[in-house]
Amino acid sequence: MRYFVINAKNYSEVSGKGLESLAAAVRIVSGKQIFREVEFFLAPPNFGLTSTVNPQSSYHVLAQHLDLAKLGASTGFSVPEIAKSFGAAGSLINHSEHRISRNDIESLISRLRLLGMISVVCAKDDEEVGEFSKLAPDFIAVEPPDLIGSGKAVSKVRPEVIMGSRSALDRNRVPNSTTKLLCGAGIVDGIDARLSVEMGAAGILVASGVIKAPDWENKIGELAQGLIDAKTPGAG
Ligand code: G3P
Repeated sequence: MRYFVINAKNYSEVSGKGLESLAAAVRIVSGKQIFREVEFFLAPPNFGLTSTVNPQSSYHVLAQHLDLAKLGASTGFSVPEIAKSFGAAGSLINHSEHRISRNDIESLISRLRLLGMISVVCAKDDEEVGEFSKLAPDFIAVEPPDLIGSGKAVSKVRPEVIMGSRSALDRNRVPNSTTKLLCGAGIVDGIDARLSVEMGAAGILVASGVIKAPDWENKIGELAQGLIDAKTPGAG
């Protein structure tokens, strides 16, 4: 299986009806038989979470961020239990644009695990990948911050980050854990996606490469095709 996470961030293209169009594109591509070996995830702005959840669809919805505030009398926070009740399958944690403390990362992973939710923890380099591997999240996504939004793919210009992260994960993983490595930052085309897997990732985390593309369905299909074209399988 290969994994494809689309982070819509807060790009204006996904405000209001834009998000519905993006979700429709993800639904169409993820439903194609040729992509049955790709698991798709969409992380909309939290306001749009319910409008993108569709039990009939073959993709999962992730929150972009969740808070550790308590279920009950807490105001203005996004708490995992409520996100789950609205259909979120899991959450990004510690995205480069929303970093949190090591303790909070650990607490969020545990809370999501208890709820049966998926944790996708972001790391800035292979050292953090090694550190977060010990927490056994479902996914760790390595993204060099300076390449985010650059259009210069980590898999092309800094493949050593993916290879180093893969060995850091393999060295530090909790026995019997199934943490999978994703990579992101600057991924814009099918070749970037294919190289990501060939360098040792199980999938990709992409934002602007999809959102800024003129035709979402076409671009999502191109990236998914790159994932399944990869010759050397990544983990998972
Ligand atoms: O969450 C994905 C991300 O930070 C990578 O951004 O725009 O380089 O695909 P982008």
